[in-house]
Amino acid sequence: MSAPPRSSDRGRWHIERFAELDSTNRYVLDAARDGAADGLVAVADVQTAGRGRLDRTWEASAGSSLLVSVLVRAPAAPTRVVMAAGVALVRAVADAADVAAVLKWPNDVVVGERKLAGVLAEADGEAVVVGAGCNVNWAEFPPELVATATACNLEAGRPVDRDALLDAYLDELARALASGDALIADYRTHLATVGRRVRVQQVRGPDLVGVAIGVTDDGALVVRDDHDVEHTVTTADVVHLRAP
Ligand code: BTN
Repeated sequence: MSAPPRSSDRGRWHIERFAELDSTNRYVLDAARDGAADGLVAVADVQTAGRGRLDRTWEASAGSSLLVSVLVRAPAAPTRVVMAAGVALVRAVADAADVAAVLKWPNDVVVGERKLAGVLAEADGEAVVVGAGCNVNWAEFPPELVATATACNLEAGRPVDRDALLDAYLDELARALASGDALIADYRTHLATVGRRVRVQQVRGPDLVGVAIGVTDDGALVVRDDHDVEHTVTTADVVHLRAP
């Protein structure tokens, strides 16, 4: 049987810390279906089946990363919760690790073009579970990540305290969720994709190449392709390209 979590409270959040879980998103989603209250947070030192966007896995060795999921029972659209998580992560790595990061649409936290953190939201009715995985203290990356990933310790030049990062993230997330109409403006401020030449790898449909020209209030990316046709994209991966 797995060890019971250590519990604590911080503002609106009730935090359960686990040594190991299959997936903090899976845990919080199941808890939501069983009636858990808004504000439940699960944190794990390691996940055995971490979930990434677009049905990928999320890998992180024990203790290397902040692996956290929160339950928001929101009348607001899930996309607002996802935007809030992205904004909160960018602010939290600045607050707790002095790392200057930006967002790559929709919610990758990047330094330069290297990925520092990712966000995965899953919803069940009005319950939104937003999970974040942030590379905190990595000695080295596996070969498949070495060219594309970074970590807080590598950017800061010092080890970074995961608990301090968690506290900063939860404080910033509470603030972002309460920020009303300012949230979309804050999201746009941190988003580095608009104005960039991009390749959009769509889940359904061909790749698009063009310039990202905006983000709708619902968080969709607007891209003008090289034939001057505008596309509004809701689910895709984006690659920032160099200007031709
Ligand atoms: C992405 O693909 O960029 C999103 C990755 C999200 C990973 C986090 S780790 C904590 C939470 N639990 C999961 O199983 N996934 C998210």
